[in-house]
Amino acid sequence: MLQIIKRKELLSIITFCTIFINVFAQKTIQNNSSREKLSLNGEWNYIIDPYQMGYLDYRLEPFDMSKTGKGGFYENITNPGKSEKVEYDFDSAPTLTVPGDWNSQKEKLEFYEGTLWYKRDFVINPEKDKRYFIHFGAVNYESNIYLNGKKIGSHKGGFTPFQFEVTNKLNTGDNFIVLMVDNTRKVDEIPTINTDWWNYGGITRDVSILETPQNFISDYKVQLAKDENKIIEGYIQVDNSKNKETVSLEIPELKIKKEYKVDENGFVKFSIPTKKISYWSPENPKLYEVSISSDQEKITDKIGFRTIKTVGKDIFLNGNSIFLKGISLHDENPLIKGRLRSEADMRMLLTWAKELGCNYVRLAHYTHDEKMLRLADEMGLMVWAEVPVYWTISWTNAETYKNAANQLEVGIERDKNRASVIIWSIGNETPVTEPRNVFMGNLVDKVRSIDNTRLVAAALEVEREGYTVVVDDPLGDKIDLASFNEYGGWYWGKPEELDKYEFHIKFDKPVVISEFGAGALAGYHGDKDTMWSEEHQEAIYINQIKMLEKIDGFRGMTPWILVDFRSPRRQNPVYQDFWNRKGLISNNGVKKKAFYVLKAYYESKK
Ligand code: GCU
Repeated sequence: MLQIIKRKELLSIITFCTIFINVFAQKTIQNNSSREKLSLNGEWNYIIDPYQMGYLDYRLEPFDMSKTGKGGFYENITNPGKSEKVEYDFDSAPTLTVPGDWNSQKEKLEFYEGTLWYKRDFVINPEKDKRYFIHFGAVNYESNIYLNGKKIGSHKGGFTPFQFEVTNKLNTGDNFIVLMVDNTRKVDEIPTINTDWWNYGGITRDVSILETPQNFISDYKVQLAKDENKIIEGYIQVDNSKNKETVSLEIPELKIKKEYKVDENGFVKFSIPTKKISYWSPENPKLYEVSISSDQEKITDKIGFRTIKTVGKDIFLNGNSIFLKGISLHDENPLIKGRLRSEADMRMLLTWAKELGCNYVRLAHYTHDEKMLRLADEMGLMVWAEVPVYWTISWTNAETYKNAANQLEVGIERDKNRASVIIWSIGNETPVTEPRNVFMGNLVDKVRSIDNTRLVAAALEVEREGYTVVVDDPLGDKIDLASFNEYGGWYWGKPEELDKYEFHIKFDKPVVISEFGAGALAGYHGDKDTMWSEEHQEAIYINQIKMLEKIDGFRGMTPWILVDFRSPRRQNPVYQDFWNRKGLISNNGVKKKAFYVLKAYYESKK
């Protein structure tokens, strides 16, 4: 067989397999914040490339060094000879700050959708007995990654972490990394082309090179067993395990110190009966110091233990009925334009949620930064986490489903040890068709197959006939909550009519309103009928709360939204100016009148 495959064909087969393995095999290392790392955050040179000149020749063929000896921008040619024609130069190009979307950093990039190249140099001295992974917190949307001029992989998905092993691909000393990033919206992607948020492109979260031992603790889960508040169970995975080494799990405060031998795959499961646990809750966000060790390393984490379940129309946290006093959030800086970059930004947002009296947040509409989830653990905020299966997805496209399922799985795997996460949401306001029901039903099954300890939800579709609102979206049969968005008083009806509405909810499940709200320009005042006034928004909140309180099984809500946020759909130059003004707080940090209506309501819901 080999004799008929020419050397070149064999080479391209090997190259394809390597790239395929690189792109799909790497699961992200659990708890990368605890690993030895070289941060690549900081200033990266960038080149705007709307025609992909750095990747395609004029016949739209990707450059191929092996054929033409000419590569793309990823070659990063520097100091060309005086007669050499090179039509790019990273080193004399301007810079962008990483992490950070490009739209908010440069005026000419504010609306930019297309390809943009990043490059940065770095120095590292890799050790022989160590392994190295380049880890990205998120890059929106599609990216090719090149190390020292060679492609090491590509990735799709704007909100989930990914990594590639670069052991033996690093130079000792000088290295450079190049990314080609394309944030063009496409119909068959996740999300699709229509969203009500800004399409922030670029390297929006942290980048680092992680250093690990040859055989390292790549993954672990340490949580309470489903519906068991006295058993801590989970697993430990050692990557490249040699000889069934011994690993240990320690939770000193619980007087737990166990040793286990991993199997031939480096894997071991455990189930540990425990006595007195201080359960995690918003009032008592107790996190335990957990350490997992092998003979090569010790990984420490902070993990809370709690149970969450529904019984009929009620929700129980640690066996106590709980009302979810929530608010929705986008991953967007409240005071300066752009994606959240630092823990301080995130802490500011969540502190405002606490000030509002929240015990719960909806991190809409996509996987947020891991630091956000760790802060929710620390600050005592339960979380509705979500993937951007939003509005009119290409339900019949198998690749689209794979993409959605991958983003869901990566998010669950990354955050499975976060006590704050009580709900995995598989999407938002997706129009009911049979292909959509199949697609979403498969996503529900996927969640439950990975993690059966948390609730599954979605923002279901609702139908309205006059003052009658019917919730019988078939997806409601598969999820744990009767959760849906409704915009009484804003998108339909007037604020003063809200007491006439009746909700017919066809599920014997807890009712959680995943959105309601209204727009208001902070500082603009009028009477309650004046559109865009704070008084109009305030009247809708007052009447919404009265209306919702009448619903049997009403057990929580996340009004839309804590802070005004950027959207290409909001063009009124006076009241919006490309801001969605449904925030209870303006993008200058000004609290609107409705903020205090909700705060008072939550205070009354002790
Ligand atoms: C929808 C959607 C949100 C959107 C909001 C609005 O329900 O889920 O993403 O921003 O309505 O219209 O403001």
